[in-house]
Amino acid sequence: MNGTNGTTNGVKSPKPSFPAEATSKEYAISLDKSDPLRALRDEFIIPSKANLASKKLAKPGLSNEPSIYFCGNSLGIQPKAVAKYMEAQLDTWSGIGVCGHFTDLEGSPLSQWQVLSEQAAASMSKIIGAAPDEVAAMGTLTMNLHLLLASFYRPTEKRRKILMDWKAFPSDHYAIESHIAWHGLDSKDNMVLIGPDEGTYEIPTEKILEVIDQHVDDAAVLLLPGIQYYTGQLFDIPRITRYAQERGLIVGWDLAHAYGNAEIKLHDWNVDFAAWCTYKYGNAGPGAMGGLFVHERHGQVDYSEGEDSPKFRHRLTGWYGGDRSVRFKMDNKFKPIPGAGGWVLSNPSVIDLTTLCAALSVFDKTSMKELRKKSFHLTAYLEFLLLSDSTDEDRPFKIITPSDPHARGAQLSLLLKPGLLHNVADSLQKAGIICDKREPDVVRVAPVPLYNTFSEVWQFVQVFKAALSPMRLKL
Ligand SMILES: Cc1ncc(COP(=O)(O)O)c(C=O)c1O
Repeated sequence: MNGTNGTTNGVKSPKPSFPAEATSKEYAISLDKSDPLRALRDEFIIPSKANLASKKLAKPGLSNEPSIYFCGNSLGIQPKAVAKYMEAQLDTWSGIGVCGHFTDLEGSPLSQWQVLSEQAAASMSKIIGAAPDEVAAMGTLTMNLHLLLASFYRPTEKRRKILMDWKAFPSDHYAIESHIAWHGLDSKDNMVLIGPDEGTYEIPTEKILEVIDQHVDDAAVLLLPGIQYYTGQLFDIPRITRYAQERGLIVGWDLAHAYGNAEIKLHDWNVDFAAWCTYKYGNAGPGAMGGLFVHERHGQVDYSEGEDSPKFRHRLTGWYGGDRSVRFKMDNKFKPIPGAGGWVLSNPSVIDLTTLCAALSVFDKTSMKELRKKSFHLTAYLEFLLLSDSTDEDRPFKIITPSDPHARGAQLSLLLKPGLLHNVADSLQKAGIICDKREPDVVRVAPVPLYNTFSEVWQFVQVFKAALSPMRLKL
C-alpha cells in the first residue's frame, strides 16, 4: 500500500480479510505485536478510567488504567509534547518578552514568533499533500471557511448556487447560508443539497456528478466535506474535483474529519481551496488553531504593473497577510504574502501555535501513508469483529459507514435499532470506553492509528455486543 488511501501504484488495495481465529483476544494481541507504529501510542496521554470517573481536577495519572479512547473523530487526546512545548513557550515569553518575536532560542523546539505559523504550516502541508506555501495555520475552521468563501464565492447573474452536502455540519451550513445572504441572494434558492437515495446513507460519486451536471449553468461553487462527519463516508475528492472544475465550478473541501485521517493530495488533485480543524485526528487541543489551503495558482501575486500595484485574488485582508519585508513599514500599501499566507489576518496566538506545533511533532515522526495503512487494517478489524457472529437480519445495529475501506477513514458509524442508544452508551461508559453518540440512534467509533490498538478494538466489540445481547432477546 504506497499510494492514496490504500492504493499501490494507483491500484486499490483489497479489503483486509481475517481468518476465523481473528475473533480471539490472542489474535488481537498478535496484531498489536506486529504493528510497526505501536511505539507512537507512547507519545500520548491516554485519559485514565480513574480520572474519567472522578469529578476532581487531577494529574494525568500515567500509572492508572487507561480508558479505551475511540473519540478522536471529535477530540484527539493530548500528546506528551504539548507540556514540553508549552513550557518552552512560556519560558520564552517570560524570559525575553517582546524579543520572542525575532529571536530563535537555542534548545527550544519552537521558532521565533514571527515565523512560528510557518513552522506549523510546513508540517501541516505534509498531512494534506500541499506545498508549505499553499497552507496557512490560522483561525478556526468556520472562520477560515468564511474567509475562503469571501474569496472564492463570487456569484454572477448566471452562476450563483453553492452545491453542498445535504447533512452538512451545522456550522458549514450556516456559513454558506450567510454568504449567499451577504450577496443579497435568497439562500433557499441557492443552496443545493446533495444527499443519498431514500433509505440509504452513502452518497454515490455518480449521484454527486449528476447533481453537478444538473447545475452546470447556475452553480458557482461546490463545497463538500472530505469525510462526512455523521456517516464517515470519504468522498472521491480527486474525481469530484476534476469533474466539477471541468464544468466551470470552483471546488472547496472541509477537511475537519479527513485531516490526519485520510491520505489527501490537495495540490495534485488541483483543489481550489480547503479548510480544516486540528483538534480531531490532529490532536492539537480543544478549539485549537485551524488551517487553510489555497492552491498555488490562486495565491500568486503579480507585480508586472509595478511594485506598488500588486494584482492578486480578492480576499479580506489583515496586516499579517502582508509580506514580512514590508509589514512593519506601516505605509498602508498591502502586499500579500504569495500563497495561503496572504489570507492571514492577525498576529497569531503563539499559545495556540505551540499546542499545534507540539501535535504536529508527532505526525513528523511518521507519514500519512503509514498511518493510513494501519488505519485501513484497524477499522477493517473493527468491522470484521462487529459482523463476525451474526447476519444482517438478526443484528440490532447496522454499519452506515461505507463497507469499502477506500470510501471511509478511521470511523465506523453504528446505527442502533430505536431505543438502544442509552443502554449501549451506559455500558460503554461503565467499561471506560469513550466514543461518541449522536441522538437518536448512532454511535460513532473511531480507532485512531496513532494511539489505538487492535486489542482495544477487540475489547470494545466484547462490551458492545454484551450491551446489545439482552436487548436482542426483547426485539
Ligand atoms: C465538519 C465540520 N465542520 C465545521 C466544524 C466547526 O468547527 P469550528 O468550531 O472549529 O469552527 C466542525 C466541528 O466539529 C466539523 O466537524
